[in-house]
Formats: sequence, C-alpha cells, structure tokens
Amino acid sequence: MKITVIGAGHVGATAAQRIAEKELANEVVLVDVVEGLPQGKGLDIYESAPIERFDAKVIGTNSYDQTSNSDIILITAGIARKPGMSRDDLQATNANIVKTVTEQAVAKSPRAIIIVVSNPLDVMTYVAKKVSGFERHRVLGMAGVLDSARFRTFIAMELNVSVEDVTAFVLGGHGDSMVPLPRYSTVAGIPLPDLMDKATIDRLVKRTRDGGIEIVNYLKTGSAYYAPSSAAIEMIESIVRDKRRILPCAAWLEGEYGLNDVYCGVPVKLSRDGMEEIIQIKLTPEEQAALNKSADDVRANIAKLNI
Ligand code: NAI
Ligand code: 2OP
Repeated sequence: MKITVIGAGHVGATAAQRIAEKELANEVVLVDVVEGLPQGKGLDIYESAPIERFDAKVIGTNSYDQTSNSDIILITAGIARKPGMSRDDLQATNANIVKTVTEQAVAKSPRAIIIVVSNPLDVMTYVAKKVSGFERHRVLGMAGVLDSARFRTFIAMELNVSVEDVTAFVLGGHGDSMVPLPRYSTVAGIPLPDLMDKATIDRLVKRTRDGGIEIVNYLKTGSAYYAPSSAAIEMIESIVRDKRRILPCAAWLEGEYGLNDVYCGVPVKLSRDGMEEIIQIKLTPEEQAALNKSADDVRANIAKLNI
C-alpha cells in the first residue's frame, strides 16, 4: 500500500503522521510546492518511527515522480480559512490548486482512489473528479466524518458520557447548510430526541454547523487540523483494511436521495475499491428539504467554477 498526501501543511502533515503511525501504508509520500517543507516534515515523521515503532517509509518531495502507483491520493493542498472568511471564499484559489495537483497526481497513479480535503470541500471534490476523469467510486470528499465527530463530541460533553457510546450522522455539503440528523444520532442506541429537549439539540446542531469557524476564531492564522486529519484517516483505514465502514462522505450523486450531478455528504460503504455503495436512509420531508437546499448551495458554487 502506497499513499500520497498532497499538501504538507497542517492537515497534510498530520495525516501523513497518522497514516505512518497506524501503518496504513508501507510508503507515505508527502508532496508540497514549498521547497524543503515536505522533505523536512517527512524526514521528521520518519525519524519518529523507531520510537513510535512503525514500519512505514515517509518521503517528502516537491515532484510527483516518487508518487507513482499510489493506491490512495489524499488532497489537502490549498489555502485555509482565516477569521472572517467562509469556506466558499477559498474557492477560486483552491480550484486552481486542486486542478493542478490532481492532473499531476493521476498522471502517475491512474488507478488510485482520491480523497479530497481542500475547501470548499464538495466543490473541490467535483474539480478532482472532473480533472481526473475517474469513476465516482474513486473520488470522494472528507467532511461528514469530521462534522459528525464534532456533533458526537458536543453530545458527549453535554450528557457527560463517553464519546464511544455516541454515534451521529451529519449529511449534506460541508458548509453552513450542512444537515445534522438528530433522529439518526444515538447514545448507546438511544435516539438523541429521547435524551434531550429540542432547544438543547438545536444548540448542539448550531455549534456543529459553526464547528469550523469556532476553531478558526481561536487559532486566527488557520483552521482545524487534528480532527480533520483523524477524519480523513478513518476513511483511509476503511479502504486500506477493506472494513466496509459506513461513513458520511461527499459522493457524486446519480439519483440517490433524489439528487443528481452534485457532490453531497451521504452515508457511504467504504471498501478496498473505494465507494462500494451509497446507503439510502429514510428522511422526513424537513430533512429532505434541508438536504436539497444544501445540494443546491453546492451546485450554485460548482456553476461559478472556471476550470
Ligand atoms: P495549510 O495552509 O496548513 O496547508 C496547505 C498546504 O498546501 C501548504 O503547505 C501549501 O504550501 C500547500 N500547497 C499550496 N498549493 C499547492 C500546490 N499547488 N501543490 C502542492 N501543495 C500546495 O492548510 P491546512 O490547514 O492544511 O488546510 C488545507 C486545506 O484543507 C484548506 O483548504 C482547508 O480549508 C481544508 N480543510 C478542509 C477540511 C474538511 O473538513 N474538508 C477540514 C480542515 C481543512
Ligand atoms: C473545518 O470545518 C476548515 O472546513 C474546515 O474545520
């Protein structure tokens, strides 16, 4: 197994470290445009191997030569948000970056599975699919695992219970119109609406929607990366180990949930070949309307692309 991580910034480097420490690949290749950055971070991670006891080679490079025949390509290249910026403000800059890196990466690894992290997530995943020409099961976006993890954390904090017993689903685009689903969120199997009043649920849903900007406002110079890299690794692990986890991922929809030709977060079964299946759950009319609105927002941003 060989995994290329493009972008050696906060998310990319932390993801590379987690991939190596979990031995999800024999070889991890970290690529960035900044000279010395991927080499330095890659070597630093590699030098932790004897202490952390992992057998994975970590290589940093500015060229794509060493990425050849990667099984998975994780795209984290691009600019991140600063206070006052929405994810959509990143679109024009990151579309060009994601286009360039996808072209170069797929030329060397035509059979890879691509997972996009760069924002605005759903639109950038569309760019990667369009540029690569790959089938939809090989081009996915990471956002739902992160948004669901935030929701799970806030539920556990509120009830003072272990996060291990909390499950949650957040669907839709990775933006202000994301769709947390309290009915499908549980604590030890008990649905959330049986454990909390509506006002409390609404407060946690709002905090989940604002989860990205909450971290940006603390950091001031960039956005979250510990939880985002963990979320990307959960997707990668399901693929590498052929686990068939059902995780919310940005997937290209062809009629599922009544939606067409748009990337949107939905539950996906992830196996060695990438997306094996989109799981369709029953939504209430209100939940479906929220998902439609979120997909419309992504579509409107895709229409603004100039690639
Ligand atoms: P960062 O600024 O720390 O790292 C980005 C890296 O990309 C930099 O090292 C930069 O040199 C590199 N880069 C820029 N152009 C490149 C190119 N053409 N080729 C290769 N590398 C290039 O940013 P961070 O925090 O790592 O975030 C990366 C992206 O991920 C941002 O767009 C951010 O908004 C997004 N993000 C998405 C999340 C999600 O849930 N989908 C969660 C967290 C971040
Ligand atoms: C986040 O949700 C910035 O999209 C990123 O943290």
